[in-house]
Amino acid sequence: MLTVAVAKGRMQQDALRLLERAGIRLSGDDLASRRLAFADESGRYRFIFVKPADVPVYVEHGIADCGMVGRDVLLESEADLLQPLDLKIARCRLAVAAPRGARTRESGLLHVATKYPRTSAAHFGAKGVPVEIIELSGSVELAPLLGLADCIVDLVETGRTLEENGLAVVETITESTGRLAVNRASYQLKSEAVAALIDVLTRAVGDFGF
Ligand code: PRP
Repeated sequence: MLTVAVAKGRMQQDALRLLERAGIRLSGDDLASRRLAFADESGRYRFIFVKPADVPVYVEHGIADCGMVGRDVLLESEADLLQPLDLKIARCRLAVAAPRGARTRESGLLHVATKYPRTSAAHFGAKGVPVEIIELSGSVELAPLLGLADCIVDLVETGRTLEENGLAVVETITESTGRLAVNRASYQLKSEAVAALIDVLTRAVGDFGF
């Protein structure tokens, strides 16, 4: 049996649709329940549903063999995982955003609020911009409005959250989609099962219409 960690939240519905297209059936009762771990109908897979940032943790430690999670989360985690497949779901970008019309700071520290401290530090570090990273765990768009930060680094999907909070994208750091991540040992030791999962998911991604 393969254990697959699925990121809860923005990606979950698309991930479940993709699994269904891949012929992996989860019971309606399980899906409607609040249970966080259950097997598919074939008994070949056990799915666990965890916060996005915890997916790479479970996969790197080998508790889960595979994970379905955004590239943004994998970049931030720096976990040593294989990423054999772009699932092409939950397409979004990681961007720097600031209050509309704000002037670019010319000297001093730029205060950046984000859920992505490592990725943000690497981005501004590569540009030689001195920053203080202020780590938050959600509702990051509030930070510049309340004077906690000059700008944010956050996910933008439709752009609606930025728009409705008076912010605008300054630059895109990277694009992100859902990925299949695989534990290195599982890739070797459970190679047939992992290859079978990659195979059915690859075909489902092709059918998904992206
Ligand atoms: C994400 C992100 C933005 C929003 C972007 O938050 O942090 O707030 O979605 O989406 P949009 O461009 O379509 O408006 P999420 O819903 O994952 O919750 P969080 O703020 O609690 O992290």
